[in-house]
Amino acid sequence: MTDQPTGDPLAELERVLKPYRGTLPTRARLPEHGVARDEVLAELREMADAERERWQSGHVSGAVYQGDPEHVAFLAEAYAIHSQSNPLHLDVWPSAAKLEAEIVAMTAGMLGADRIEDDVVGTVTSGGTESIVMAMRAYRRRGLAQGIERPVMVLPQTAHAAFDKAAELMGIEQRKIPVGADWVADVDAMAAAIDERTIVVVGSAPAFPHGLIDPIVALSEAARERGVGFHTDSCLGGFILPWAERLGHPVPVFDFRLPGVTSMSADTHKFGYAAKGTSVVLYRGAELRRHQYFTFSDWPGGLYATPTLPGSRPGGLSAACWAAMVAFGESGYMDATARILEAAATMKAAIRATEGIELIGDPLYTLAFRATEEGLDVYRVMDAMTARGWRLNGLHRPPCVHICVTLRHAQTGVAAAFAEDLDAAVREAREQPQAEGGMAPIYGLAASVPDRALVSSFLEQYMDRWFVP
Ligand SMILES: Cc1ncc(COP(=O)(O)O)c(C=O)c1O
Repeated sequence: MTDQPTGDPLAELERVLKPYRGTLPTRARLPEHGVARDEVLAELREMADAERERWQSGHVSGAVYQGDPEHVAFLAEAYAIHSQSNPLHLDVWPSAAKLEAEIVAMTAGMLGADRIEDDVVGTVTSGGTESIVMAMRAYRRRGLAQGIERPVMVLPQTAHAAFDKAAELMGIEQRKIPVGADWVADVDAMAAAIDERTIVVVGSAPAFPHGLIDPIVALSEAARERGVGFHTDSCLGGFILPWAERLGHPVPVFDFRLPGVTSMSADTHKFGYAAKGTSVVLYRGAELRRHQYFTFSDWPGGLYATPTLPGSRPGGLSAACWAAMVAFGESGYMDATARILEAAATMKAAIRATEGIELIGDPLYTLAFRATEEGLDVYRVMDAMTARGWRLNGLHRPPCVHICVTLRHAQTGVAAAFAEDLDAAVREAREQPQAEGGMAPIYGLAASVPDRALVSSFLEQYMDRWFVP
């Protein structure tokens, strides 16, 4: 793969998206005769081998949360054992019902259910987005049952884009409240936005952009006092904050121990260290979960019932998820959390010590920084980090960059290398503010174009290119 930037934003995307053109066969048509399995696997290996170093070495924000070769092999074996399983057919694979019920129960217990009287129930989904869409569906349908025809969700501006997807899919109006000067949800403004059409209030623990935990205690109480449901989105935090709390870090309560929290999302495929493709959505009480289900009893295809969005689902992924949770156990998650938070502390200190940038708020492990120096472009800093092998996330409103610290960064030397590279990257961005190529022009343009449809059209072109062989 070449790392040379081109200058033209779409050509730049093309270069990043299609590095194998010319080095591997392009298979735009079915081969007339099947290719030998060895050869097929060799093609797959060539790509994986080219891509492994970058994420395995600990240079990527988020993305791979565990990634040790032994763990990866263990997940693959668990998947392989159950690769033919489909939870749509529980009569054939009752193992899927056992594994998924246990995933849900273990997750609920971790998130406060063991310490309260109420029942906490849930389902396994394909990821954070589906967990959120499903929870919003439950509130949407409960609202309809209560006579709310034009539903509204109240959420901070930093809530994940999955809530926008849910709103768009189901015609839910959004009241997006700007975060306060402290970068977290503004409780008074959120409370004031709740009315008789509100079906749910949302808070994040933590929010994706700046890794900061919204004031869940006050937000959930404001919702409860008004008789409205409250969703804690802990997709990013559900499998790390409970252990951080036990380790003595300052984690405010964010889970079902709060009586106002009526649903939560927690991603097993992030800090649960499962393979990609699973998450858990939880509810206080079976009644709310019922509203998530889909049943259709008049279909010529038979009696149809699915708890989540897909029909057929990969039982192998649930097996791998269950295997990860059981193999880690409480002590495994606690050790992993301690290692991540130690690496994050070193990286946080590095950001704070670097002149020209500042850390946003006081996050635990998703660290966002922005430029404070006149003329310093934070996206140039990101590009200079890219040139040093890093893959950080560019954010906007306001312009900033973050790194989500995972176990990959807890490897020896990674946090120290981040500190060194960040210092050099800021200096480079300061000295060469007009450097060619990279993502800086794309982010700069996206921030400055008043016509958001133009930006959307650019993103659509990106997806168009994705599916060109
Ligand atoms: C806070 C939060 N919510 C939801 C999601 C969506 O998760 P997924 O990408 O698994 O759909 C993410 C992903 O990073 C997240 O950080």
